[in-house]
Amino acid sequence: MTNKVSFLHDNIQIEVKTGTSLLEAARKAKVIVRSRCSGKAGCLMCKVTVKDQSNLAPMTKAERLKLGSLGNQGIRLACQAAVMGTVEVQVPEDPLKAAVRAQLARQKEEDLW
Ligand code: FES
Repeated sequence: MTNKVSFLHDNIQIEVKTGTSLLEAARKAKVIVRSRCSGKAGCLMCKVTVKDQSNLAPMTKAERLKLGSLGNQGIRLACQAAVMGTVEVQVPEDPLKAAVRAQLARQKEEDLW
């Protein structure tokens, strides 16, 4: 069975098989989700925000332990969260891209003065 995963920031939707991790889905969709531990719930770099109505498997013990209270705020580890139905996910902007965008915005503001 396939399920729709929507990456909201990038406005990309893909179909993946039930049980596919959000990290695998992101890679398939060519959406960048940072990762340093190769999906072993070790680095916490793959945190994503999922919409309330998203259909994911319950958190594994490892994911619950790693996320702590963040798990109650719609945050999941993309490498551990398995797709079980329709999912809408927000991937945080890459920090380098965010820094460049902020710098360009500051420069543009200074150029106006
Ligand atoms: S990829 Fe490292 S915790 Fe998910």
